[in-house]
Amino acid sequence: MELEKQLDYIKKCQEIVRRSAALKGRPLTFYIETFGCQMNERDSEKLRGILEEIGYERGEGEESDVVLYNTCTVRENANTRVYGRLGKLSSIKKGSPDMIIGLCGCMMQEEQVVEKIKKDFKFVDIVFGTHNIYVLAELLYKTLTEKKQIIDVREKADEIVEDLPADRTYFFKSGVNIMYGCDNFCSYCIVPYVRGRERSREARDILRECERLAKDGVRELMLLGQNVNSYGKNLDNGISFAELLKEVCRVDGIDRVRFMTSHPKDLSDELIKVMAEEEKVCRHLHLPMQSGSSRILKAMNRRYSKEDYLDLVGRIRTAMPDISLTTDIIVGFPTETEEDFLETLDVVDKVGFDSAFTFIYSIRSGTPAAKMEQVDEAVIKDRFDRLLKLVQERAAERCARFEGRTMDVLVESVNRQDKDLVTGRISNNLVVHFDGDESLIGKIVPVKMEECKGFYYIGKRA
Ligand code: SAH
Ligand code: SF4
Ligand code: F3S
Repeated sequence: MELEKQLDYIKKCQEIVRRSAALKGRPLTFYIETFGCQMNERDSEKLRGILEEIGYERGEGEESDVVLYNTCTVRENANTRVYGRLGKLSSIKKGSPDMIIGLCGCMMQEEQVVEKIKKDFKFVDIVFGTHNIYVLAELLYKTLTEKKQIIDVREKADEIVEDLPADRTYFFKSGVNIMYGCDNFCSYCIVPYVRGRERSREARDILRECERLAKDGVRELMLLGQNVNSYGKNLDNGISFAELLKEVCRVDGIDRVRFMTSHPKDLSDELIKVMAEEEKVCRHLHLPMQSGSSRILKAMNRRYSKEDYLDLVGRIRTAMPDISLTTDIIVGFPTETEEDFLETLDVVDKVGFDSAFTFIYSIRSGTPAAKMEQVDEAVIKDRFDRLLKLVQERAAERCARFEGRTMDVLVESVNRQDKDLVTGRISNNLVVHFDGDESLIGKIVPVKMEECKGFYYIGKRA
């Protein structure tokens, strides 16, 4: 029902856009800027799909007729950036009053943000949240016909709308949402509040999408969810993530399968087994540890200890000795002491991550950690620098282990600095630059890993 309604709004918008383009004597354009994680990236592909269906063409940045910011709010600096950008947009809009400015994504799910937009950013035309990106055409139609600020932010998702158009960034790889939302409520994290409760898609819908993508030329899939390991738990007769992964590997034409993110507490031995057995599953696992201190992990509500984490890493490495492990680490979580921090360094040293995203703890209002005793900023900065140094040393050692080997590379683009090189990734997710041209994009080719440059390689076609 909802799908038909939205397709109808797409038609209505098409008519308006066609007339407006004829009047202006040029096609109308759009620009979407995406902040945050792969969920938002994938949502933006769907938003682009809708706008293109309506008849907008891709524009060059903020001078476009429709400008949409798909926002993130996981850390405070993400919000600050959006407000800064809005200031600039306001002066552009003064010069072209027909321009439509839209805001969507995680920030919009916060009440105080929407209040601020109503008060300080009246030139913003449409505001919508994470639960209803599929209503873009409807909101656009309203703002085109009613010329007033339209706000449609919902507290939760009523349904999962399948089969809307999507315009993929890459023709050869794609993200596939397998679930939405998060129920884990880690005490520092705002995601469960802005993305809502955990909802899994039906396996048959996911597989149908994967098959369609494969027919469309996609070779690499990234299964997306805040905690893919708890996939299926809210479905009647749902299958496990391990079973789903196995099914996805059966899809003809797909050569590589990745997934993100895995919560350590839910990573099953069944999944390790499937990963080890299935050749298409990439030799890379992103396993956010957040902290190495069991006391801090408890305060974070992560529901595993330092020992659990190390034990899990051990089991994964036994099954797949060659696997690359990456992680997320937060420094300066409330009450973190020097001893707690040394535990984090200890795990980084013991595990040897292939890379790690390190974050300074950011207070998110409304989360339990916001009310806990905060750590001094200078202390955090010092810890952050020490952590980064160790992470980089260990990552460089890990990266070097492929030197001299020949490995399959999925080519993603022509190198930006040197037109005689192309850039791609090995199954372990490491980036390799090597000799080649545009015709290789989207192909998987064997490459000799000649020289490790710390966190990427210079290679040669084998
Ligand atoms: N669902 C994923 C993470 C999504 S958010 C998981 O559980 O692993 C991505 C990363 O942002 C988190 O892993 C965490 O390291 C970081 N992060 C989340 N909230 C944060 C905060 N308040 N301050 C600093 N970093 C945070
Ligand atoms: Fe946030 Fe934790 Fe959910 Fe990840 S698992 S999105 S860190 S609450
Ligand atoms: Fe940011 Fe929302 Fe992702 S808060 S990290 S864009 S789920």
